[in-house]
Amino acid sequence: MVTSCPDMKQVEPLTASQIAHFSRDGYLVLPAVLDPELCRQARDEMWGAIEADLPRMKRGEPSTWAPITEEESSRLSAQKPAGGGEPYLGGSGHRLTIRNGAEELLLNLAPRALWQVAEQLLGKGTLVWPAGLDESGTTTGPCFMSDDAVGGLASHMGSEMGWPSGGSFTTEEALRLPKTGPVWLNGQGTRGLYCTLPKSPSPGPEYRGSHSDGACYGRWRLQMAAYTDDVPPNSGAFTVWPGSHTRIWKEQWKAFQAGEKHTDTHLAVRNAGGYTDPVIGRIKADTQPIDCHGPAGTVVLWHTKILHIAGQNSSDDVIRQATIYGFLKTTAAVSDALAVDSEDGDIWRDWSDELRGQ
Ligand SMILES: [Fe+2]
Repeated sequence: MVTSCPDMKQVEPLTASQIAHFSRDGYLVLPAVLDPELCRQARDEMWGAIEADLPRMKRGEPSTWAPITEEESSRLSAQKPAGGGEPYLGGSGHRLTIRNGAEELLLNLAPRALWQVAEQLLGKGTLVWPAGLDESGTTTGPCFMSDDAVGGLASHMGSEMGWPSGGSFTTEEALRLPKTGPVWLNGQGTRGLYCTLPKSPSPGPEYRGSHSDGACYGRWRLQMAAYTDDVPPNSGAFTVWPGSHTRIWKEQWKAFQAGEKHTDTHLAVRNAGGYTDPVIGRIKADTQPIDCHGPAGTVVLWHTKILHIAGQNSSDDVIRQATIYGFLKTTAAVSDALAVDSEDGDIWRDWSDELRGQ
């Protein structure tokens, strides 16, 4: 497994004050740090996919960027690739998804360009390299088979694949996933392009749908959102509640120690219409959310536990385009025993000395 960075253009390392900001607030915005040419190629690729499968949307004509109808949504979701995985282009309402996250373009654009920054935060040589596709067009990488990972495999790959109903909480070292499958689960791809069409509905004063990703155990600690086009204020940017990462971590850790394996019970509440844990309510009541807007090539780094939501896109001429990636610690860096360890509740246990020193 490659854990060192091949020779490719890297985003500048973070300064001590940027690391301190990340540690304190749980997020950091790096404006326009990505290669503009790769951003342009990603925009072209998005429009190529739209032109092929949703041609009523025209590039340069925002009046045609209306929400995806139910009929369009079912037509798109029926186009499943033969080798498994999700349709290349999908969506419903104001959400449009392109499953190109395991392609070289997306990997070079975002996670690989941030490799040294990620190592700076999480420790050199401790991360799973996003290698993308092999010669057969498949990804292979390690996956910690927790309940939520198994649930993600079933929901993105189809239950007919025969996934177990519960997690083994051990690592499948070489989980193979097709290129439009949930390739973020084995660390090999980003989530593809997540787009929010103009005039998306308000989440309401309660910010319905705001949540904290994953669990306090496992191997996901640092995530990123990268914008391939300009995201002006109030146009669907990644939105965070500063400082919420440590508060949520603490509560989830208590629940984990008390035997709760995941945020499953919380997710059930979310599915019912809102993430209503008391700590989330307190955070919303006392903390002002931040709209992490920025020009094309902007990256938002965030601690996995931070409270966040994809912001409302109030514009009438911007398609919010972001790719999301979670850096994964290797099994060598965090063993299965450590991944489920419930003794050490230090939120920064798996981070670099440079970060821990802040
Ligand atoms: Fe999320």
